Amino acid sequence: MDDHGQRGYALPMRMIHWLMAAIMLYVIVVGFLMGNGFKVGKHYDYHRASGFLLMLLVVVRLLIYRFTTPPSPLPVSMSTLQKRAAEAVHFLLYASLIIQPFLGWYATNAWGVKNIPFFFGWTLPQLVEKDRDLGNFLLEIHHYLGLFITALVVIHISAALMHHFAYKDNVLKRMMKT
Ligand code: HEM
Ligand code: HEM
Repeated sequence: MDDHGQRGYALPMRMIHWLMAAIMLYVIVVGFLMGNGFKVGKHYDYHRASGFLLMLLVVVRLLIYRFTTPPSPLPVSMSTLQKRAAEAVHFLLYASLIIQPFLGWYATNAWGVKNIPFFFGWTLPQLVEKDRDLGNFLLEIHHYLGLFITALVVIHISAALMHHFAYKDNVLKRMMKT
């Protein structure tokens, strides 16, 4: 399909998408190293701080989306099912960017870490008193949700690459240029 003249995402949307994508991939990789007994040193703190940062950036992203010109509709070559599937994955990615950091934060407090370091020497407020059993339980959910989110990200990236290389439409390009 010829998609010339189609408008992509506005520059601020593209910037925050790729910034969050990079942070997310980092958080996932470090998360799995942590969860599998690797000594990750300062990256342990960075996992928690970056995860929390993603939660804040969701708000920034929603604001940016509100105040920038949206892209043209998805290509007409996409079926309704495909469009619904893309929307569902995007929605779940947004939801996971809020739920997963919150879960990690709550679990870490419950596990017994009072002052979770953020950047600039700040610490996250304590949400809950120490309760080891609760902490372990919530970290287990954090683990399974982490696997689910990883699957979402893999689907999302695969879909973007399929659009570009198999369908040869503008879906990946609209996240690269306006
Ligand atoms: C979008 C944000 C986040 C994602 C995608 C994420 C993902 C993950 C993943 C995949 C693991 C490995 C689980 C395993 O294999 O057992 C993990 C572990 C962990 N995460 Fe997160 N996480 C996020 C945010 C956070 C935050 C904000 C905190 C705390 C403030 C946190 C604290 C932890 C802890 C304590 C572990 C367990 C490490 C261990 O078992 O030794 N995470 N995370
Ligand atoms: C290198 C990996 C990635 C690629 C190639 C990629 C590609 C894309 C493309 C092409 C779109 C536009 C789809 C459309 O027009 O509807 C998009 C949208 C989106 N992406 Fe990604 N993405 C990547 C990583 C991520 C990650 C890690 C996240 C989650 C944190 C994410 C979250 C989203 C969301 C929520 C949208 C919907 C539009 C928006 O609200 O910004 N992406 N992505």
